[in-house]
Amino acid sequence: MRAVICQGWGGPEFLKLLDVPPPAVGPGQVRLAVAAAGVNFADTLMIAGKYQEKPPFPFSPGLEVAGTVLEIGPGVTGLVPGQRVAAVLDHGGFAEQAVARVEDVFPIPDSMDFSIAASFPIAYGTSHIALWERARLQAGEILLVHGAAGGVGLTAVEIGKALGATVIASAAGPDRVAVAADHGADHLIDTKSQDIRERVRELTGGRGVDVVYDPVGGEGFDKSLRSIAWGARLLVIGFAGGTTPQIPANLLLVKNCAAIGLYWGSYRRHAPQLVAESFRALFAWCEEGKLKPLVSQQFPLDQAAAALTLLANRRATGKLVLTIASS
Ligand SMILES: NC(=O)c1ccc[n+]([C@@H]2O[C@H](COP(=O)([O-])OP(=O)(O)OC[C@H]3O[C@@H](n4cnc5c(N)ncnc54)[C@H](OP(=O)(O)O)[C@@H]3O)[C@@H](O)[C@H]2O)c1
Repeated sequence: MRAVICQGWGGPEFLKLLDVPPPAVGPGQVRLAVAAAGVNFADTLMIAGKYQEKPPFPFSPGLEVAGTVLEIGPGVTGLVPGQRVAAVLDHGGFAEQAVARVEDVFPIPDSMDFSIAASFPIAYGTSHIALWERARLQAGEILLVHGAAGGVGLTAVEIGKALGATVIASAAGPDRVAVAADHGADHLIDTKSQDIRERVRELTGGRGVDVVYDPVGGEGFDKSLRSIAWGARLLVIGFAGGTTPQIPANLLLVKNCAAIGLYWGSYRRHAPQLVAESFRALFAWCEEGKLKPLVSQQFPLDQAAAALTLLANRRATGKLVLTIASS
């Protein structure tokens, strides 16, 4: 099978498209014919050796796919060959075939095409567990989402609206905030021309926001910490801006607020039932038209490097997807 292979830490330009043997299926595992693979910021970190998981070389990047079940391993029940599914992987998705643990494979609605399904699990899964389970976002609360035109950020805007919150979305540039507005954001902050703290003060009449969803880090995180309401929750999702923020504990104390970390990938192992419940809710919202997943560009497998470069350069909106031609 063809697969995008990483043979040493570095940028996307070092990836190679190679013919490699298809992966074998073990007990409790499922082999999939990959129709499409979602591209994530974490892929750029993983191939650079900067991600929390460092697979042994050679490996194929790619953390989420959609396609059909080819083969089920010993002990697997509830899935049959030919079934349309999405799956989350430790790595190995930028390939014509992939092997996933059965707990990480989710049947998809008939109405959902493979490119949408491949872009769905990580971004929507992360934002839903973060807002629903970790921050317990309530209807009527005010949610501030950073990186709101990007992969996880845009899903946080939609899920915030689906949960009944008022959503303030921040992104860099008028074209990028417009994407967040198209997906339901009530108020916008263009970080190229507006100050986050001042704009939040203006929009909330000085009260501050109840929940911050931050996949970017850096200066925006610090300003958010100073823009929160009494009893607020600040979700630490990622550091796409490259800086890991430090939190002065006195600010948590005086506002009775909580900084909450989320690593969605670890929920797959620690709380798989919760992940399954989360996907059931998300797929139902999708079918009701409450979520409108945005796949802004699709690339063939041999252009995986171009997709990763676009993402790293802050040029992508919503999700990028690799379509696997032979599936
Ligand atoms: N905790 C978890 O379980 C979890 C799950 C998924 C993702 N994440 C993390 O969340 C972050 C976003 O992931 P994603 O897949 O949504 O990525 P993405 O689509 O590239 O979105 C990242 C956003 O961050 C903003 N940004 C600001 N400075 C940036 C910089 N120097 N380089 C790149 N982007 C920058 C960009 O928006 P503007 O240009 O508009 O500012 C961009 O839209 C990553 O750190 C990822 O590792 C965490």
